[in-house]
Amino acid sequence: MEILTNTWQILPFPENAAGKRVEFDMGCGKGRFTVELARRYPDSLVFCNDIIIERLRIVERRAARAGVTNLHALRAASLALVSYQLPVQRIDRLHLLCPDPFPKKKQTPRRLVCTDFLCRVPRVLKKGGIFHLSTDYTPYYEDWLRMFSQLPDLYELAPNGIDDMADVKTDFEIKWNEMGQEVHHVCYRLK
Ligand SMILES: C[S@@+](CC[C@H](N)C(=O)[O-])C[C@H]1O[C@@H](n2cnc3c(N)ncnc32)[C@H](O)[C@@H]1O
Repeated sequence: MEILTNTWQILPFPENAAGKRVEFDMGCGKGRFTVELARRYPDSLVFCNDIIIERLRIVERRAARAGVTNLHALRAASLALVSYQLPVQRIDRLHLLCPDPFPKKKQTPRRLVCTDFLCRVPRVLKKGGIFHLSTDYTPYYEDWLRMFSQLPDLYELAPNGIDDMADVKTDFEIKWNEMGQEVHHVCYRLK
């Protein structure tokens, strides 16, 4: 696991990264989705990050059990990664699954997904790359649709962007489903 502590530090990709497809799972939690992604696509580089190190230790253990060697876990904050720490336009598919919804009105400014964030993502996503998001919190989802619709020069809907992984749920998605809550998924392609 790599720990990025200096906000201005750029993550050096591994030496074997040249020409490889890159998937990134932001705020991966315990990494159920991430590890399966790495298992299905052994020739891709799969990165994930979280700010809680104990969750990344679980990802590491799951990756070891699954025998995957193409997964890199980063202890780093998603906003810093997108804004400064990741190399430019190197990600083919970015996943942001069940980010904290901060449902209370006074918490809304703490949400990661906002117009500013959507305008920063093109720094790291390749042109034509897919941005896949999910949430159980319908008002957050509706905000996303509105925000993306206000950026038609940057993004277009990509309804099939996650077809190959549609059968894989994250740990939080399983939890919400068990409580009877639907989790909304949406994908956009960077123009
Ligand atoms: C609701 S959980 C979802 C985890 C996982 N994606 C899933 O669906 O099971 C949100 C995750 O985002 C992480 N997180 C919160 N703020 C973060 C930040 N600024 N940067 C990176 N990860 C963050 C939390 O530690 C937590 O593991």
